[in-house]
Amino acid sequence: MAILVTGGAGYIGSHTVVELLAQGEDVVIVDNLCNSHPVSIDRVEQICQRRPIFYQADIRDKNALIEVFSKHSFTSVIHFAGLKAVGESTTIPLHYYQNNVAGTLVLCEVMAEHGVKNLVFSSSATVYGDPHTVPIVESFPTGATNPYGRSKLIVEEMLGDLYKSDNEWNIALLRYFNPVGAHKSGLIGEDPNGIPNNLIPYITQVAVGRLAQLSVFGDDYNTVDGTGVRDYIHVVDLAKGHLKALAKLDAKAGLVTYNLGTGQGYSVLEMLNAFEKVSGKTIAYQISPRRPGDIAACYSDPSLAKQELNWQAELNLDDMAEDSWRWQQGNPNGFAS
Ligand code: NAD
Ligand code: UFG
Repeated sequence: MAILVTGGAGYIGSHTVVELLAQGEDVVIVDNLCNSHPVSIDRVEQICQRRPIFYQADIRDKNALIEVFSKHSFTSVIHFAGLKAVGESTTIPLHYYQNNVAGTLVLCEVMAEHGVKNLVFSSSATVYGDPHTVPIVESFPTGATNPYGRSKLIVEEMLGDLYKSDNEWNIALLRYFNPVGAHKSGLIGEDPNGIPNNLIPYITQVAVGRLAQLSVFGDDYNTVDGTGVRDYIHVVDLAKGHLKALAKLDAKAGLVTYNLGTGQGYSVLEMLNAFEKVSGKTIAYQISPRRPGDIAACYSDPSLAKQELNWQAELNLDDMAEDSWRWQQGNPNGFAS
């Protein structure tokens, strides 16, 4: 019996595959490599001394998925495959709905046809929209402010309907806060295409000399130093959360929803300082206007995951900064280095 990991060549997927292999699981990856590099799979093998089975396929290609399901017996599916750039989603929304919503739909159809009914879904803190207060608990109202977020919310609702129609499904909706960091080996990490949208890859690319300076989007928020506050979580902690979620599903959990965050918010300038400390570099920055759609502060109350999954984040800000920096230094141009 194996675990199917869609999007397993990507950033969070590859780190989760490492944890699964380390736990002795058999892993099959389906990824179309639209936002990842096949070298990530070689690196996973290098770390684990075991190679996951890999199919380069699109999850919207039903025949390709059926072929994969006919070759392997799966206990569960961890579903990372999707597009994730908020800005891009506003310019090509149909592409986002096609990939994220239709892709999940096809996957669930094939799972149902093969009697595989345990699913872990990558959701996002973005489904909380602009929360009325922080920390955020799972019962807060949801609402999306962009097509990417709406695609996650639609999938959450679709999976809720699926569960209501058939209680044999066990589904974990994991709402990630801000994943950062990299595996301790420095062999896998985040490898964004083009100029990064997110803070940490931008900071590390300035530190390594690939980009000139960071724009800090706004210093007039009602936060500790005026810059935006987020709940950064080490990707290895996040990956381990998926293994705990799988165990919960094996125990017939039904439909469950968890925040995966640390519960601790850091500002942009606090992150910048942490990276300056570990890299020993001065990271040039300028204060720029607020980025449209950004909110002041977003951090989780992760206590439900602690109670019900026996999971909590263990790595701290120094670990996040050191591990991101090690990955960036060793791979200045990502997997293509
Ligand atoms: P990523 O882009 O590194 O990984 C996604 C992987 O899915 C890539 O390898 C890509 O090639 C693959 N993929 C995309 N569409 C596909 C398709 N139709 N068929 C097959 N493969 C496909 O992104 P990530 O950061 O690892 O994110 C993984 C999941 O977590 C995504 O669903 C994302 O929306 C969600 N998420 C990410 C963040 C974040 O900040 N990184 C936050 C919250 C939620
Ligand atoms: N920021 C800058 N300069 C930059 C990039 C970001 O100042 O060049 C600031 C932002 O204004 C924000 C903070 O850094 O205050 C974090 O921004 P990111 O773009 O790294 O992350 P977001 O919180 O905006 O969004 C991320 C993912 C979303 C996901 C969300 C919650 O991009 O997909 O976390 O999980 F939904």
